[in-house]
Amino acid sequence: MRSITLATILALSATACTTMEAAPLVDTANPARMVSPILTSPEAQDTQTWAEPERARVTHVALDLDLDFETRRVGGTGMLEVVAEPGADTIVLDTNGLEIARVTDGNGRELPWEIESMEESGAKGEPLRITLGDARTIRIDYRAPAAASALQWLSPEQTEGGVHPFLFSQGQAILNRTWIPTQDSPGIRQTWEARITAPEPLDVVMSGVRQGKPEDLGDGRRAFRFVMDKPVPPYLIAIAAGDIDFAPIGPRTGVWAEPATLPRARAEVGDTEEMVEAAEALYGEYRWGRYDMIVLPPAFPYGGMENPVMTFLTPTFIAGDRSNNGLIAHELAHSWSGNLVTNAVWGDSWLNEGVTTYFENRIMEAVYGEKRAEQEAALMYANILETLDEVGRDAPGTALSTDGEYQLGSAIAYEKGAFFLMTVESIVGRERFDAWLRQWFDNHAFQPATSEMFYEDMLANLVRDDAEAERLMLREWIFEPGLPANVAEPDPAAFAAVDAAVAAYSANGAIPTGYADWTSAERQRFLDNIPKERTAAQLAALNEALGLASTGNNEELFLWLELALANRYEPAVPQAQEFLARVGRAKFVRPLFATLWGEGEWGRPIAQRIYADTRATYHSVTQAGVDRVLASD
Ligand code: BES
Ligand code: ZN
Repeated sequence: MRSITLATILALSATACTTMEAAPLVDTANPARMVSPILTSPEAQDTQTWAEPERARVTHVALDLDLDFETRRVGGTGMLEVVAEPGADTIVLDTNGLEIARVTDGNGRELPWEIESMEESGAKGEPLRITLGDARTIRIDYRAPAAASALQWLSPEQTEGGVHPFLFSQGQAILNRTWIPTQDSPGIRQTWEARITAPEPLDVVMSGVRQGKPEDLGDGRRAFRFVMDKPVPPYLIAIAAGDIDFAPIGPRTGVWAEPATLPRARAEVGDTEEMVEAAEALYGEYRWGRYDMIVLPPAFPYGGMENPVMTFLTPTFIAGDRSNNGLIAHELAHSWSGNLVTNAVWGDSWLNEGVTTYFENRIMEAVYGEKRAEQEAALMYANILETLDEVGRDAPGTALSTDGEYQLGSAIAYEKGAFFLMTVESIVGRERFDAWLRQWFDNHAFQPATSEMFYEDMLANLVRDDAEAERLMLREWIFEPGLPANVAEPDPAAFAAVDAAVAAYSANGAIPTGYADWTSAERQRFLDNIPKERTAAQLAALNEALGLASTGNNEELFLWLELALANRYEPAVPQAQEFLARVGRAKFVRPLFATLWGEGEWGRPIAQRIYADTRATYHSVTQAGVDRVLASD
């Protein structure tokens, strides 16, 4: 690659681009509706879908569904609008466990269909093949199974209020096919609308704009309507229902949560409107109208999920001092990187997560200043190094762009992705970099993208000459494992004081006196870097002096528990048990069980005992992660 000149690459990429995007199709049924193109290049082929979008694809989804909390079933109808190439007689949808009752066209005529049974289809599910004839509207009467892995039904005991049940969905990456029969691929964007009925007094929110007031159906149920008029990848269709209230923040921002959680939630996300303004100043207009959030019960398996107009959040990020709201900046940034411009295949998920992690850091800098942003970046950098040490610098899974598979550990897609952009920024300068990234979002808005396109766009619109191309090492960054030599390392001054405190503690056990006044990032740096092997007496002294077990910040509490359990520190066992019973976030839960499991005859019975109590309260994503740990040797 090195020997090829920039001019040659530009010439090559110009031809590659014209074949990459299929001509945008017009939705003949509804010409006013926005339809996004699909990509047809080989690297944009999604191995995780059964759909054949080049022949026939879904452009719009209209759901009419009832939420039955008694039987834990979601069911009703899905109306799909499709466009098809001349001669394409069938359309293939993704399904996983759906019970299909009937498939008809727009006039109620039966359409032949079959669910092909595939060997070992797993989470990919099964293709639903429908014979189209000349139909361009399909109506599917169906029901999702109670165990649909996109949906988690919570009993009242799993909520803060304890009185009403709760439901939420999680679509990323390929879970939505367990409750919506459509083409479930990030490269096949669709507009959607929904009518959802639910029992009173539950409120329903979705990742679309709610239309008017709920309609009282007179039978103890209400109907809610939603519209998403911008084409989105279907993993971004999301729903939550429960006893929830809303609190406004700014003119276009607000937060939903259970009444008992709402005041703390509202206080924690109080900087959101400023974050939206900061994000717009960086990379252009926020294009989705409102930016609302919902703080879910603790069973939600992630920190956050960037569902359009309605970010989903774990309650475990609430610390009382906004110290974990990099999470908000992150999910907000996805409104550009991920939701506006979307990885066409999951092997390129760094295009969503890495670009977002970079953008997140820029928002944090704009709102809270350079010091906080630099510290958070330095923590990210330490994560990259830790992962590379663990899996090896030549492991193929440490490349940003991998063939169809997820990267090895989140530090690659997220943090290596972010440091790639920080490195480019440091070489070309912030002004040029920002102008480039803004045009990337603008020119690919509401469209899928690949690593190859990102690379070619940088060459075409950012890189000045061959010498600069050489310095940037773009292909190494995107396609090679490990960490390129030109990485812009974080400023060691970011944590100078903490690193000195770590050195002093490591040398002679001197416990830092200023800990209470440190930032959360500083505390995390300290807990990450002190010696891993500690005696019970040392742990007791540390906890006594620094109040580690009683911190209100779950990121810090998690680090304490990891340290303590890895040293078989008995007093930490009830603390871990309490934590694992109230936190369902996979990022915390899985590693703590792994730490216990790693402690053999001491830790394994503890892990099994705690998991016997908590497993049923966890989301299927969290369960799957812990199940794997407890099945390992
Ligand atoms: N989109 C992700 C969550 C996700 C990733 C769900 C992959 C399913 C598959 C979300 O934006 C995210 O990155 N969440 C992080 C936030 C953190 C990096 C601030 C999380 O949940 O920890
Ligand atoms: Zn993310």
